[in-house]
Amino acid sequence: MSSVPAVTSPRLDVEAVRRDFPILSRVTDSGRPLVYLDSGATAQKPNCVIDKLAEVFREYNSNVHRGVHALGDRVTGAMEGSREGIRRMLNAPEVEEVIFTGGCTLAINTVAHGWGRKFLQAGDEIVLTEMEHHANLVPWQMVAREKGAKIRFIPQTSDGRLDLDQLDSVLNSRTRLVAVTGMSNVLGTINPVGTIAARVKQYGAVVLVDAAQSVPHGSVDVQGLGIDFLAFSGHKLYGPTGIGVLWGRRALLEAMDPFLGGGNMISRVWGDRFECGAIPAKFEAGTPPIAEAIGLGTAVEYIESLGWDAIAAWEHQLTSHAHARLGQIEGLRIMGPGIEHRGSIVTFTVDGLQATDLATVLDTRGIAVRAGHHCTMPLHDRLGITASTRASLAFYNTPGEIDLLCEGIEHARKLLMRKRRS
Ligand code: ALA
Repeated sequence: MSSVPAVTSPRLDVEAVRRDFPILSRVTDSGRPLVYLDSGATAQKPNCVIDKLAEVFREYNSNVHRGVHALGDRVTGAMEGSREGIRRMLNAPEVEEVIFTGGCTLAINTVAHGWGRKFLQAGDEIVLTEMEHHANLVPWQMVAREKGAKIRFIPQTSDGRLDLDQLDSVLNSRTRLVAVTGMSNVLGTINPVGTIAARVKQYGAVVLVDAAQSVPHGSVDVQGLGIDFLAFSGHKLYGPTGIGVLWGRRALLEAMDPFLGGGNMISRVWGDRFECGAIPAKFEAGTPPIAEAIGLGTAVEYIESLGWDAIAAWEHQLTSHAHARLGQIEGLRIMGPGIEHRGSIVTFTVDGLQATDLATVLDTRGIAVRAGHHCTMPLHDRLGITASTRASLAFYNTPGEIDLLCEGIEHARKLLMRKRRS
């Protein structure tokens, strides 16, 4: 399948890993095997996660923290076990700091509304980057508009990195919060969030990391990074949809307001008022996504069994291969920085081709990529384009699949150019 030198990892047996993901052996409607290069939108699920969801529903489905029966105990134990697994993965100090939410977007909104509405005042400043996806932009716009706060952006270098030389030009005594992505979902840029957090702390501001794209690709240490909040979604971490995580420092979580009201988040309710419960329940109103939370814990165990170092090494090799091979295609421009500053996302434009046309042709060959603005309209505006095509890689991808992508792009170029001429 591949015409380039084989890329092998001494530590990740990719063929064995692929057998853990049933969807990867599917033959698509095109009659060709699925080449799934859209893990940045949602990652595929290993058998252990799929089986875990079925196990919960078949064997101990019940509500959590409520029943006095055996099923309730078992399901509560499983969900709390998952919370502890996530605490360990993040190296968070306390398990109560791990909040289950409906997704990354809800996690960020929890901070924007629960912390921002309570603590931001007119004239305060929120600092973001121009590479944020809408989930880490629009909630801040909403709260800034309500509170009269101002949004500022950390300048970017021409190759799509944050320009830290200019960080002090946007930080000042009015800065209250800096919210930054750990890895751009378009440019692939890995941001030095630890370095940024250390600089931000000199101004006494709070740091939130949107880790939706970064958490699936390498180990995270929230204490080592010196950050205050971290948000991510389960479905990009090989877990189910409908589950996400907000981690926050205890003192901040206790000081801020709950975002959603309802059962479970209270300690006492009267006719006209309520008292909040303790964290994490304070931020988990209503029945949580129970099976999904348990399934996410299983996904974390699975990833840890492969090893973060092995995953990071393999994905780096894949990304280097993609960078090199795509870079050889005439008229193809890769967005974002060089390989030393990026994770396993490669987004590009091809001269003369619409991103959606290209993705449609690739789909006829069983190759799944994302095309469009990838929920980053301001970034695309800044780059002067309306759409791009994105290949987002995971540890289950192979160099051969990247070769198929490149062949597919060459095919699309010829096909679409021919159509245009006729
Ligand atoms: N933000 C997700 C992506 O980048 C949905 O595809």
